Amino acid sequence: MKLKRRYALFDIGKSSKFVDRTLSLSLPSALVFAMLAALKLITPWLAVISYACIIIFNAVLLFPITFELQQLKKYISSLASDDNIANEKMNLSEEETREIVDAVNAMHRFWAQKADNLEAQSISDTAVLDTLPDPIMMIDRSGNILGANLSSRNLFGENITDKNVENLFESNNFIEAVNRVLKKESEAENLIFYIQKPVDQKLYAHIKQLPWQSKGRAVAVISLYNLTKALKIEKMQSDFVANASHELRTPLAIISGFIETLLTSAKDDPDAREKFLKVMKDQAEYMSSLIENLLSLSKIELSQDQRPNQQVNVPEVMNEVKEALTLKAQERHINIRAVTEFAPEEGNIIADRQQVKQIVQNLTDNAIKYGLSNTDITIRAKLVDAIPASKSFNVAEGPAVAIAINNKGPKISPENLARLTERFYRMQEHKDLNIKGTGLGLSIAKQIVIRHRGNLTVSSSGYSGTTFTIYLPKQA
Ligand SMILES: Nc1ncnc2c1ncn2[C@@H]1O[C@H](COP(=O)(O)OP(=O)(O)OP(=O)(O)O)[C@@H](O)[C@H]1O
Ligand SMILES: [Mg+2]
Repeated sequence: MKLKRRYALFDIGKSSKFVDRTLSLSLPSALVFAMLAALKLITPWLAVISYACIIIFNAVLLFPITFELQQLKKYISSLASDDNIANEKMNLSEEETREIVDAVNAMHRFWAQKADNLEAQSISDTAVLDTLPDPIMMIDRSGNILGANLSSRNLFGENITDKNVENLFESNNFIEAVNRVLKKESEAENLIFYIQKPVDQKLYAHIKQLPWQSKGRAVAVISLYNLTKALKIEKMQSDFVANASHELRTPLAIISGFIETLLTSAKDDPDAREKFLKVMKDQAEYMSSLIENLLSLSKIELSQDQRPNQQVNVPEVMNEVKEALTLKAQERHINIRAVTEFAPEEGNIIADRQQVKQIVQNLTDNAIKYGLSNTDITIRAKLVDAIPASKSFNVAEGPAVAIAINNKGPKISPENLARLTERFYRMQEHKDLNIKGTGLGLSIAKQIVIRHRGNLTVSSSGYSGTTFTIYLPKQA
């Protein structure tokens, strides 16, 4: 079997060199025998037989070395093509071939190790580039994208590396800047440009030649920074300042108007004075709650990236809120019920106590203000296995406490429901009813749940009223 395999590897048909070598090695002997025969020192028959013996002798001598050389050739080719033969054990009888195989193996091991190191290095480089939040691309001399990190692939699609920057970006300014770098007219270019696809975005680009040492086919690197988000935050902040100053200006204008009236036309009218002073007091109170809420919001925003770390007992907080708001609720003949569906000690969570109280208080305060009079408000706490996911922020995994605050009242329309947590947003019907409020209570509540990696949901129906549910993870 072994022998069959050995000969199968040795392809005589292809190996005309073996025959050539055997014959050429035997040629001197042929000449000697021909001469001996010509001199009649031996008979021609003896010369032919002796020559045939020499050929057989040479063939037997040459066969193993030729066979092993062929095997060696196949082995080296298999190493180059990563074939399986490379893993097979070879039975070599010739010392020299064994030494060559050992040398080839040592060389193969050396380069394989180098290739492994290089691959590991390139995998780790790719992984590092993929962790960067901003897009980075490498381009060749013609502007073809050779490599792109995860952020680029997410932004422009997985097949980005098949494209040329000219097809990917429509901005002429950007293309011109890339060309200046590619033509070595400039070493680096920085610019701000807009793209429409895949979505409208404002980008800052830094295009830089690669140092000559790092040159493969890539000659330049493009790094992009998305300015859209920063601009959005900037706009939100300026809108907020504009809204806040607008909200403060209105009560201030009302107060100064009344002061003016009291100083002039209503100077000697005690009835008007009393009426105006009450309005002024209301406006001053509104201003103070507006300032208080604005301060609260900025304080929460400042603490947004600090993990809450206090042990908070939810039923205890619920009872404190109930006590604080009972009087206010009684004015509207509303009864507050605090219900806990678990043993009080199971209601411990890691959170910010003051903020948990603030959120329960804001929602209960809303229930009192906007709920039907002569009804009950229920604050119900229960344990849940998971927090429902949110589209706009991350929520914590694992068990949580859900605090649902329900009040009776008319159904809130879906259009209003979608906007309730917007800053300063108030439903028109409540403004018309002259119910006091700054429109910030629910934005504060939303910021608090975001900080706690919880969630805030709302459902409203004509039959069961409106229920705001706060989810707070047991471990924030
Ligand atoms: N339980 C509720 N039922 C019906 N509408 C509500 C309820 N809670 C809130 N709203 C509506 O959502 C709006 C925003 O509420 P939010 O708590 O943010 O502000 P506010 O109550 O008006 O002011 P603030 O809480 O600062 O005193 C309210 O003005 C009201 O129109
Ligand atoms: Mg409110």
